Parts: sequence; C-alpha cells; structure tokens
Amino acid sequence: MNIKFLLIILSYISITLAATLTCKQVKKQICSSCNDDNFQCKTDGNGKIYSLLINNQNFSNGIPENIFSITSLKDLYLVNNNITSIPQNIVNLKNLRRLDLRTNKLTTISKYVGQLSNLKYLKLSNNDISSLPSFIGNLKSLLSLYFSNCKLTSIPTSIGNLSNLEKLLLKKNKLESIPDEIGNLKKLNELLLANNYLRVIPDEIGNLKNLNELILDNNCLDTIPNTIDADKVSVSFEQNSISYCLSCTELKEIACEKCNSDDFKCETNSKGYINSLTIKNQHFSYTDTNKFPTIITKIISLEKLELIHDGINVFPGIKKLINLQELNLDNNLFLESPSGIEQLTKLQILNLGSNSLGKFTGLEKLINLQELNLGSNSLGKFTGLEKLINLQELNFSNNYLFEFPNIEKLINLQKLYLNGNLYFEIPSGIKELNKLQILDLRNNYITSLPSEFKNSDIEILI
Ligand SMILES: *[C@@H]1O[C@H](CO)[C@@H](O)[C@H](O)[C@H]1NC(C)=O
Ligand SMILES: *[C@@H]1O[C@H](CO)[C@@H](O)[C@H](O)[C@H]1NC(C)=O
Ligand SMILES: *[C@@H]1O[C@H](CO)[C@@H](O)[C@H](O)[C@H]1NC(C)=O
Ligand SMILES: *[C@@H]1O[C@H](CO)[C@@H](O)[C@H](O)[C@H]1NC(C)=O
Repeated sequence: MNIKFLLIILSYISITLAATLTCKQVKKQICSSCNDDNFQCKTDGNGKIYSLLINNQNFSNGIPENIFSITSLKDLYLVNNNITSIPQNIVNLKNLRRLDLRTNKLTTISKYVGQLSNLKYLKLSNNDISSLPSFIGNLKSLLSLYFSNCKLTSIPTSIGNLSNLEKLLLKKNKLESIPDEIGNLKKLNELLLANNYLRVIPDEIGNLKNLNELILDNNCLDTIPNTIDADKVSVSFEQNSISYCLSCTELKEIACEKCNSDDFKCETNSKGYINSLTIKNQHFSYTDTNKFPTIITKIISLEKLELIHDGINVFPGIKKLINLQELNLDNNLFLESPSGIEQLTKLQILNLGSNSLGKFTGLEKLINLQELNLGSNSLGKFTGLEKLINLQELNFSNNYLFEFPNIEKLINLQKLYLNGNLYFEIPSGIKELNKLQILDLRNNYITSLPSEFKNSDIEILI
C-alpha cells in the first residue's frame, strides 16, 4: 500500500471519528472528573452531539481543541472557565445557534464570532470586554445579546442591523450613549441599560413598538424621551442624576466658566461624585435671573454648598438637593426664604445672613439644624424656631426682633447672638438654657442686667 493512500485513509478515519465523537469520549478527553453540574452533553437521533455544556473549569490556556471538531454542535455553554480568547477554530461550528461564554476573562471578541451567521443567542456577560466590534451587526439571526457587566464604553451603529433582536442586556457597563440606530430594532422587547453613564436616550427609542421593558436605573439621565409610550412600556428610571457623571472641571465650564480659582471650589467623594461646591462673587441673578446656574440643582450628591455674594434672589429647584447638610447663602439678595428650602431636612448648618429676609417659611421642618445664621436681615418675627431643639448656635443679630417665644425649648443652645435688635429686656426662658455659654444682647434697649443673671456662668454682653 502506498504511503499517500494510507495517509488519506488515516485522515478520513480521524475526520469521521471527530465528526462522530460520543459524549463519553468528549468527557474523557476534556473533563473526565467533571460532575453532572459541570458537564452536560446531548446527542440527536443520529448520535451527533448538538449540545455541550462545560462549566467551572480552568481553560486559561485555551479552550480544548476537540470542541471545535464537533461540527454538529448547536448549543455550546462554556461558563466560568477563565477563558481569555476565542480561537479562529470557532468558525468550524457553523451550526452554532447558542454560544454562552458568560463569566470568563475575555477582553475582546474575536472577529471569527462575526462569521457564526446562525447564532441566535450570544451571551458574553461578566467578561472584561471593553469594546463591542461593529461586525456584531452581521449576526442577523440574533434574538438575544447579553453583555451585562462588561466594560463597554460604546455600542456600534451596526447594532441597528440586528433586525430580529428581542433581548438586549447591557446593564453594568460604561456606556455614555447609545446610537440612534437602536430605533431600528423593531422586534426588541427587553432593553436593559441600568448602571451605565447614559446622559440621554435617543428619541428613536419610541420606534420600538414591541418594547415591553426598559430599565434605565442608575444612569445620569435628566428625563426620558416623551416618544416612549408609557402605557405599553414598563420603564424603570430610579437613581438617575447628572451627579453621577459630572466632573468638577465640567461643572466649572457650565456653571462658572470665568470664575477665578479663589471663587470656585469643588470637591468629589470617594465615588467620584461632587459633594462640595463653593461659588463666590458672581452676579447670577442681580441683572438677569436666567444667569442662575440651574445645573447646581441637578447635583443631588451635594452635601455642602456655598453660594456667597452672588447676587442671588431666587434659587429654583433648591428642594432637589436633598443631601445637603451645609448651605451657605450669605450675602445675597433674598427677600424671603428660598421656596422649597424646608424640604432640605438633612441640613445641619444654614447661613442666610446678610440678605434682606423679611420672612422665613417652614423653618420648623429643619429639625436637624445645629447652626442657624439669619443675622443682618429684616426679620421682625418668625415662627417654628421652638422645634429646632438641636440648635447649638443661633445668630439673629441686626434684625428687628423684640420678642422670642418659647426659647426655653432650645435646650442645646450654646451661643445666641441677638445684638442689634429691639429688645427691652432679656427674653424670658433664657434661664432654662443650661448649655448656654454666650448671649450677645448689645445694641438693644437693655440697660442693665437683672440680678438673677449677675452671677451666672453665661457670658452676657449688653
Ligand atoms: C489554571 O491553569 C493555568 C495554566 O495551566 C495555571 O497556571 C493556573 O495556576 C491554573 N489556575 C487554577 C486556579 O487552577
Ligand atoms: C480562574 O482564575 C482565578 C484566578 O486567576 C481563580 O481564582 C479561579 O479559581 C479560576 N477559576 C477556575 C474555574 O479555575
Ligand atoms: C449595517 O449597519 C451599518 C451602520 O449603521 C450600515 O451602514 C449598513 O448599511 C448596515 N448593513 C446592512 C446590511 O444592513
Ligand atoms: C452673625 O451674622 C452676621 C451676618 O452674617 C455676621 O456678620 C456676624 O459676624 C455673625 N456673628 C457671629 C458672632 O458669628
């Protein structure tokens, strides 16, 4: 027998063998000690393997070659195997309709995947893939595409070519936008986009007439397009704020481009969200109310805000800053308390000194206040103060006050500045304030200290 002939026979045998591999052989070759959870293999009526599952193995050196000789395979599951790449041989699996490579160590998607034109289900969630190549648009049979918890920063416009797609899972990535072409996916019914950095959703989303579920939680969205039919689509839109995207540099450009560095200060917390902002010496609404940088009311992560000497007389949307603990609006032009301020119930420090306040509405709601400065305003009287039992420091200097109801309730008060008002006598109830250290009553109409205060530990200035 000549050698050539022998070789032909041998290679014929090996091809036939490969094509007719049994499940038993595959297990022996690849995963002999696997249990039933980690190895599952199914054959069709002709004894050909159409489904293979091998999970929880260590394929960090590569997917075993033998798998790519099973050309009858339709479903291949290789989950949690530390796979780092998809080899060219994958193109042998022309019949593949399901490829599940979730929870591996892939950083890219091999271009050969783009040739698996029969794929219906492609699952690549929980990998380190940073880019979705445009050849994904070639997989026209796709019904489901799973890319959750990867590192995608963008989606190619070719996604719009997947006209059969029904499910698109993209949650937990780094997407800042999605292409308008998403609107071409006429069969899409589930679109999961939670936990990204999306700032806007294209209006074309309204073209998705089969959409049932749209999850947008934890993004940077202001609103959702009004093209979405709220009766048909279940939209989830929790925890959205520009806060989660904005950098201090960007904020300066938007809010105060020409501010010098002394007048603009901005800090972020450990998550990168802006939590502290100071803007001083601007002219926001002095001449033109439209100049107020409304972007500020969108930074809901703010805990400390100082807008000092900025010519402000209105603060639209202040109530949205629900995380504020410290608010300093000293030296502005407010005639009354900013509308909605009473909703900022986490406030501990509030300074509205040196404005022109004639009244303060809702003060009684700010029960966590420890320091309140309403000095140098035009207050004649106000109500609700007695509820603020956490107050330690209270500055009412230089107003028009002459009475002070229920002050004895402010049992934590240490410093009380009432200088420059219209008092004729020391407000009754002061004696009950055991923690009081300083009482400033200068520049009132009080001429002498009653005897009961003569030997008190309180430093009283008259
Ligand atoms: C996985 O396999 C690689 C290569 O054989 C080896 O270096 C590594 O230690 C293995 N890891 C585990 C967790 O078994
Ligand atoms: C994958 O690799 C990691 C470390 O690189 C190891 O802790 C883990 O056990 C491996 N997984 C498998 C299934 O071998
Ligand atoms: C696929 O998408 C791209 C980008 O949107 C487009 O230019 C191209 O014409 C599409 N191809 C097919 C075959 O639909
Ligand atoms: C009280 O408030 C006024 C106006 O802000 C300020 O000028 C003054 O220094 C404050 N007094 C104290 C003791 O802080």
